[in-house]
Amino acid sequence: MENILSIEGLSKSFTLHNLGKHIHAIRDINLYLREGEFVGITGKSGSGKSTVLKCIYRTYCSQEGSIWYNSIRFGKINLSEVSEREMISLRKHEIGYVSQFLDVMPRTTARELVAQSIMEMGTDAQTADLQTENILQHFELDRELWDSYPTTFSGGEKLRLNIARAMVKRPRLLLLDEPTASLDHASKLKVKELLEQLIKGGTTMLGIFHDLEFMQDLCDREYSIENGNFTITH
Ligand SMILES: Nc1ncnc2c1ncn2[C@@H]1O[C@H](COP(=O)(O)OP(=O)(O)OP(=O)(O)O)[C@@H](O)[C@H]1O
Ligand SMILES: [Mg+2]
Repeated sequence: MENILSIEGLSKSFTLHNLGKHIHAIRDINLYLREGEFVGITGKSGSGKSTVLKCIYRTYCSQEGSIWYNSIRFGKINLSEVSEREMISLRKHEIGYVSQFLDVMPRTTARELVAQSIMEMGTDAQTADLQTENILQHFELDRELWDSYPTTFSGGEKLRLNIARAMVKRPRLLLLDEPTASLDHASKLKVKELLEQLIKGGTTMLGIFHDLEFMQDLCDREYSIENGNFTITH
């Protein structure tokens, strides 16, 4: 089967002008994902894990290498070279991302955030409302919070909302950056349950997990990263 994603020779470095320093965050990374796989990335803090995901989602522009993605809309394309407009369309329709740190939009309620995310996939407002309530319930977000602004939510509440928003889309490719790091055991299980459903529905996932053991039974393969370089562990 053809890969949904293949990364070849990807490198990203940062220049810190104020310190006159150059940091190689990742070096010559190679990685592939087959359709429907769930692949984990592990490694120490600062080893470059988030940088890999951010290059795929194009939060960062990589300097070297290619990120071949087999898109439904655009065919086989290099994510390090596609236009801003194509990337926005891919984020809306095909590629989801749960960031390690929380980014919530100001002045949008929890309910609106999730519903908007569903409607971007072309679902009508009424169905979106129903699905929104289902997922907020699944993650046991207190009903009183549904119509409040997430800026005041606790860390765990924000995280659960962030995950809900990415998952409801049932994206084709889902990038997860430590989605369960600051959750209690019960909430972690809820995330896992939904990840299992997504896998059954055919979503391909690339996830960074602090505690991969928790995900071990779902995970098909694992890359471990050390100082910006990958080794395949199994
Ligand atoms: N925007 C940036 N500007 C400068 N340096 C950066 C930037 N983003 C990442 N880095 C550096 O690149 C290296 C890799 O960072 P990255 O966030 O990918 O690590 P990580 O493996 O995700 O770590 P953690 O487990 O702590 O989240 C670090 O040394 C970091 O300081
Ligand atoms: Mg990180």
